[in-house]
Amino acid sequence: MKKVCIIGISGKLGQYMAQHCLDRGYEVTGVCRPDSVEKLARFGDRITVYPGRTDDREVVARAVGDADGVLTVLVPWGRTDYASGTARAVMAAAKPGARLIYSCGWHISRDGKDVYSWKLKAIVALFGPIARWMGFADLDDQVRATDLIFASDTDWTLVRGSSLEEGESEGLPVWADHVGDPILASDKTRRVDFALFMVAALDTPGLIQRAPAINGCKTPSALEHGHGASLARA
Ligand SMILES: NC(=O)c1ccc[n+]([C@@H]2O[C@H](COP(=O)([O-])OP(=O)(O)OC[C@H]3O[C@@H](n4cnc5c(N)ncnc54)[C@H](OP(=O)(O)O)[C@@H]3O)[C@@H](O)[C@H]2O)c1
Repeated sequence: MKKVCIIGISGKLGQYMAQHCLDRGYEVTGVCRPDSVEKLARFGDRITVYPGRTDDREVVARAVGDADGVLTVLVPWGRTDYASGTARAVMAAAKPGARLIYSCGWHISRDGKDVYSWKLKAIVALFGPIARWMGFADLDDQVRATDLIFASDTDWTLVRGSSLEEGESEGLPVWADHVGDPILASDKTRRVDFALFMVAALDTPGLIQRAPAINGCKTPSALEHGHGASLARA
């Protein structure tokens, strides 16, 4: 992996991913909304930023170029099919064989075999319709975006984040193919480690065309049910 493009680089997850990529010596480009470029000032000329919406195919194509990997923060904001537009733009721009890693939450299910707590079901059932009615988010669009990803023949990985918190890195999260696995029960990942997993997935062929659900490696459920290095079994 030499060149990596981060779509949504100015958010919290995007900035952590940029730092992890730079730490690994990758060349980093990224796309973020024009108003957010200044959030990236601390990176200076160590990254190349292309201002624009992440569903703007022209901007995304210029930023992705011949990148070996693309890390995409998939967000459901607004009512304009932003998430599915972003996924389409990334798939159209990436060179054949590029590793495409996308972020989302546990609420996305690839095969319907995830087992959810009443709390998560209630959050999605309440937040989804209210957010759509108020016009600030469309969870159904994030579902459409991930359906496009699942149906594609690209080298994708969809990383499904648990509840997030800030804090120092604890190391690579543990993961499972389905929510409901006991290893995930604690439902808490540091955002910096979510980013670590996204970046590590670039070089983990065993995660191609899989949708790992992640959880912090130091959480009680990970310590009770974890089995050593989290990515070694991919
Ligand atoms: N938050 C959670 O508890 C949680 C839990 C599980 C999984 N996740 C997943 O983690 C990923 C990152 O989420 P995060 O909550 O940590 O946020 P984040 O990293 O801070 O990123 C939010 C992104 O959304 C963009 N954004 C914000 N408002 C927008 C708008 N109105 N229109 C277009 N773009 C907008 C931001 O761009 P600007 O910098 O330009 O504002 C930024 O790129 C997402 O894929 C999310 O589904 C989050």
